Amino acid sequence: MAIIHDTDPRSIGRLTCGSLRATDVGNRVELQGWVNRRRDLGGLIFIDLRDRYGLTQVVFNPELNPAAHEAAGELRNEFVLKVTGIVRHRPEGTENPRLATGEIEIETESFEILNRSKTPPFYINEESEVDENLRLAYRYLDLRRKRVQSNIILRHQLVKFMRDFFEQYGFVEIETPMLIKSTPEGARDFLVPSSAQPGQFYALPQSPQQLKQLLMVAGFDRYIQIARCFRDESHRADRQPEFTQLDLEMSFVEENDVMQLIEEMLIEMMGKFSEKTLQQVPFPRISYADAIDQYGIDRPDLRYGLAFQNVSEAMAGTGFKVFSGALEAGGEIKGIVIPGGGTFTRKQIDELNAIAQGAGAKGLAWLARKDGELRGSFLKAITEAEAEALTTGIGAGPDDLCVFVADQKPVVAKVLYTLRAHLGEALGLADPNVFSFCWVVDFPLLEWDEDGQRWDATHNPFSGFKEADREYLTSDPGRVIAKQYDITLNGYEVGGGSVRIHRREDLEFIFGLMGHDAEARQERFGAILDALEYGAPPHGGIALGIDRLVMQLADEENIREVMAFPKNQRGTDVMLDAPSPVENAQLADVGLELLPAEVPAG
Ligand code: AMO
Ligand code: AMP
Repeated sequence: MAIIHDTDPRSIGRLTCGSLRATDVGNRVELQGWVNRRRDLGGLIFIDLRDRYGLTQVVFNPELNPAAHEAAGELRNEFVLKVTGIVRHRPEGTENPRLATGEIEIETESFEILNRSKTPPFYINEESEVDENLRLAYRYLDLRRKRVQSNIILRHQLVKFMRDFFEQYGFVEIETPMLIKSTPEGARDFLVPSSAQPGQFYALPQSPQQLKQLLMVAGFDRYIQIARCFRDESHRADRQPEFTQLDLEMSFVEENDVMQLIEEMLIEMMGKFSEKTLQQVPFPRISYADAIDQYGIDRPDLRYGLAFQNVSEAMAGTGFKVFSGALEAGGEIKGIVIPGGGTFTRKQIDELNAIAQGAGAKGLAWLARKDGELRGSFLKAITEAEAEALTTGIGAGPDDLCVFVADQKPVVAKVLYTLRAHLGEALGLADPNVFSFCWVVDFPLLEWDEDGQRWDATHNPFSGFKEADREYLTSDPGRVIAKQYDITLNGYEVGGGSVRIHRREDLEFIFGLMGHDAEARQERFGAILDALEYGAPPHGGIALGIDRLVMQLADEENIREVMAFPKNQRGTDVMLDAPSPVENAQLADVGLELLPAEVPAG
């Protein structure tokens, strides 16, 4: 009997460990894969053969095939095998309904060990907790495990979906270089020295921002790229020094055009790749000022309310020293109404107090109502009317708890943001089955940099500004609103973009506010400034953090789980051992010499 190969031409003639069914019974087949598990049972040896498509049970029967059975004795987990045998039904009662191949098994005729394996440093066939640095050091084994493997496949599908989506609208995917010019904006650059020009440096791109704008000048009115970006900045659970954007730019657009297109894509994408429901469609839009005022952050998790209430005005004449003192010092008083919190115990309230103090509060003032009775930490210090204003006045019901922070605005924002995030999780308000997208718009264009005594772009210097605010560029730059939009998902910033400045004089003016004189502007940003003088069309775009989107879709809390070869928290690739010292000769080639103090020990 000939060996039956998979007749689907896409299989390239290879059966996979996930492909055999009851309809294949009686066929002679050949399977390759890894030993997932070996069991010796009453003379029979069972092997689960694994590849990324699934598991197939392989049987070695001493009575039918003593030689193969004998040889199978040496098989261990992760050995690579080629097995030839006959597909047969599993004996009645031994089928495994949880496996796609669970109705069949392979009666081995012969097998070959294609390669042996040392005992892996952790189990491949189960999702046990493993020290992360060990996982990263043996990432090629970690990637054999289900969890990361399925994240990587999801990531592939997502990128494919994005490419297809934008293809429909005539976007052209264009690769931009990795070796570009260092600019002083944004995060720190990764620098690359050059041996052809010792003492000169390229920088790895923090994003293809200027290049995609230059493509607009070139007339590629719809550009996308799955773009690798590099930023030498501190690590966080949702940050890597090297990450991937869906980068996009379009000509002849206003903010709304870009936002609508991205929104359409995200809605379709979430429908295709997730069972979760979208909280609100079209996505809500909130101004930066409102986001900060109500949630203390520009990427609020809107799966739940708990918006901040400003009671500064209601408490303007209060005799409560903590509040009046904060107001006199130019601060504010804000609170959160916690539904059902009226029944919290003292211990629970003390916990909230500790969280508030941990986030920088001097204290947490509270009022709780239960069965019409009012308790509180500062009841004696306020009037009945004030107590009313601080409860009913901010929408508290009969069993609610109200907590207040009085301090300088940034402190109040940080403390209440921390409390709100805690309560969202602790009270189960952050529904894990909901995706809540939100556009944050109307960012200030510039912020004052006290250290540098200059203005700085809140996003990037190329963001355009509302034409109505042009007059403030000279009189009150902090008041100018940018044509900037960020998109957030369940409290994560998953993207950001803007309609750009497309005239040279405007961009020169912004660079001037940022403290670059004419010579510095030309030296650092000459290409884009010059290009704007050759018929640059109005244009705008956005970049979405692909890693962060995959994190959300895969329900992962750390970005490393969705990248094939991530760096650890210290920015180290523990598998390749990078960064690492280089030979002095290599340094000499590029005209460098290390300062003695910086020669790493050992
Ligand atoms: P921005 O800097 O906001 O914009 O980046 C866009 C999106 O990229 C993701 N992101 C990151 N993901 C992982 N690790 C990081 N270190 C990291 N940094 C950013 C975020 C973010 O929203 N050129 C502009 C875009 C534009 O204006 O068109 C830019 O790069 O999800
Ligand atoms: P006291 O007047 O010290 O008895 O404080 C009364 C209440 O105000 C206590 O519950 C304190 O925790 C709280 N408190 C102290 N400082 C602040 C502050 N800056 N904001 C809000 N509450 C505070």
